[in-house]
Amino acid sequence: MPYKPRMVQTFLGFWERLSKPIMALSPMDGVTDFAYRYITALHGKPDVVFTEFTTVEGLFHAPERILQDFEYSEIERPIVAQIYGATPDDFYKATHVVCELGFDGVDINMGCPSKAVVKRNCGAKLITVPDLALEIIRAVRQGIQDWAGGQTLEKLALSQNLCEVVGRMNLKRTGIANPVLKKIIPWSVKTRIGYDSVVIENWVETLLTEQPALISIHGRTLKQMYSGAADWDAIARAAKIIHQTPTLVMGNGDLQTLEEGRRAIENSGVDGVLIGRSAIGNPWVFKNKMPFDIGREVRIKTALEHAIYFKQSRGDKGFRHLNKHLIAYLRHFSDASLLRAAAVRVKNFEELQHILSCTGPSYENKITPS
Ligand SMILES: Cc1cc2nc3c(=O)[nH]c(=O)nc-3n(C[C@H](O)[C@H](O)[C@H](O)COP(=O)(O)O)c2cc1C
Repeated sequence: MPYKPRMVQTFLGFWERLSKPIMALSPMDGVTDFAYRYITALHGKPDVVFTEFTTVEGLFHAPERILQDFEYSEIERPIVAQIYGATPDDFYKATHVVCELGFDGVDINMGCPSKAVVKRNCGAKLITVPDLALEIIRAVRQGIQDWAGGQTLEKLALSQNLCEVVGRMNLKRTGIANPVLKKIIPWSVKTRIGYDSVVIENWVETLLTEQPALISIHGRTLKQMYSGAADWDAIARAAKIIHQTPTLVMGNGDLQTLEEGRRAIENSGVDGVLIGRSAIGNPWVFKNKMPFDIGREVRIKTALEHAIYFKQSRGDKGFRHLNKHLIAYLRHFSDASLLRAAAVRVKNFEELQHILSCTGPSYENKITPS
């Protein structure tokens, strides 16, 4: 289906209702899964959260596995689903799935630097192929409009399996398989300041022709990956251009604390910031707490609580995915390194509970994610 340019108006949706500045949890693949977002909503409550990026092409081949990324709970709202890929038609269909699942917004990843992603023309590679990037944007926008206009997953001829998984997820979360209210949601882009050199001014001008609700900018080029310091001057230059339009802008990169986020907002003129790595094992960052402000007992209890949500969501399979979180929680107290070394070897929740041995056997029953 050709996704033609057309006269568009910026639609901000829930972004307009958020009080500024916006303190958001940055999307992180393998990190911002259901359990992590749930624990962050409970203990930090960022203004908005993003899912991990999710492949639009993969959605149609392995819906059950891929849609795990889109499991969420009502307490996380507002929540934005991030998608990536290179095929406009798949973006069009995936956007229907995002809308059907009741997300508050959809975000297009144009910033991932991973080799596997970039070689398929996805992520930050899209900075170098603006025609494709714009076609993807139009496909997403049209997907949002068509879904709100009554298009269903069944009419789109998506597989019965995918439709059933989506229905089950909605049922589990809300008690209703098919959403009754069909509303337009805002779309946004998360990107970097360039591919191998800084081109952010030209790049945001290109993106602005389609009038996104938000552009989030990580202050590094793809070539930099995560090296060097994030370039907040480049973000500030982009913010100046974006502020000539109704589109919002968020900056991102290297923020360790909420206080640093506030200063970055003041200095660069962005509407908000995304905090990524420093929120790992530290949901309290959104309450403006420093990592060492949180005592040993709370750290251990939260690590266990996180592990319970993980188990409830994914089972014991893949428990090792928790390691990065456990390593981050078990810091800043005297016997932390001993506990870390033991915790990363466990294979299930019971072993972890035994090692951290701080709670009774009924602890697990007390927690029920909604
Ligand atoms: C493990 C990891 C996974 C990431 N996955 C994503 C992703 O799925 N989508 C995305 O837009 N950015 C992703 N990022 C980039 C972060 O959202 C963020 O832009 C980057 O880490 C810089 O912010 P920070 O310095 O606050 O961490 C990821 C970063 C890390 C460290």
